[in-house]
Amino acid sequence: MANETVIQPLPGEDSVNTGRRRFLTATTAVVGAVGVVGVAVPFIKSWNPSARALLAGAPVTVDISALQEGQRLILEWRGQPIWIVKRSQAILEALPTLDDELRDPNSENVDQQPEYVRAANPTLRSMRPEISVLVGLCTHLGCSPEMAAEIRPEPFDANWKGGYFCPCHKSKFDMAGRVYQGVPAPTNLVVPPHYYADETTIVIGVDPQGAA
Ligand code: FES
Repeated sequence: MANETVIQPLPGEDSVNTGRRRFLTATTAVVGAVGVVGVAVPFIKSWNPSARALLAGAPVTVDISALQEGQRLILEWRGQPIWIVKRSQAILEALPTLDDELRDPNSENVDQQPEYVRAANPTLRSMRPEISVLVGLCTHLGCSPEMAAEIRPEPFDANWKGGYFCPCHKSKFDMAGRVYQGVPAPTNLVVPPHYYADETTIVIGVDPQGAA
């Protein structure tokens, strides 16, 4: 399993809706299973909006300087899990080979990502090739899929090239969040609005300056 770092909600934030509670339960389970704590501190230091700001859906600023290849950082924005994943060169090379197996390989559904992300790269669905930013909720019924980031046979796909698997109803997405054909999820995972404040800082919830 790939390394993951989960940023937990602030103390006292207990008035959650059902979807968010499901997300928090899932991420707590991930922490328990992986036990990654060593890289948590730099991220937590950078995550400091007030509880009131979070409830209002304020932007979230995150430091990705400690994010290593193959790792996923999970944080929360507007009650949704946001995944920030650093993809390997092997993953980047595998993504275009999957196009024929996907429902929307060129990100033509404009509701699933901001236009500046599609324009930057409709296959990788990211402004920087190696960094993927996604809302971690399945577009079928809203479960949070599992990450299976390795290129290796998986029980659910013998030709797996890395990606996300939703065990609820077996939807599959690649490492750009593009949905496979023949699964219940109708669309690619959502890419949230975001921009790079500097080389290692991403702001979730705000478009880049001048973006359409
Ligand atoms: S919620 Fe993901 S496949 Fe049903």
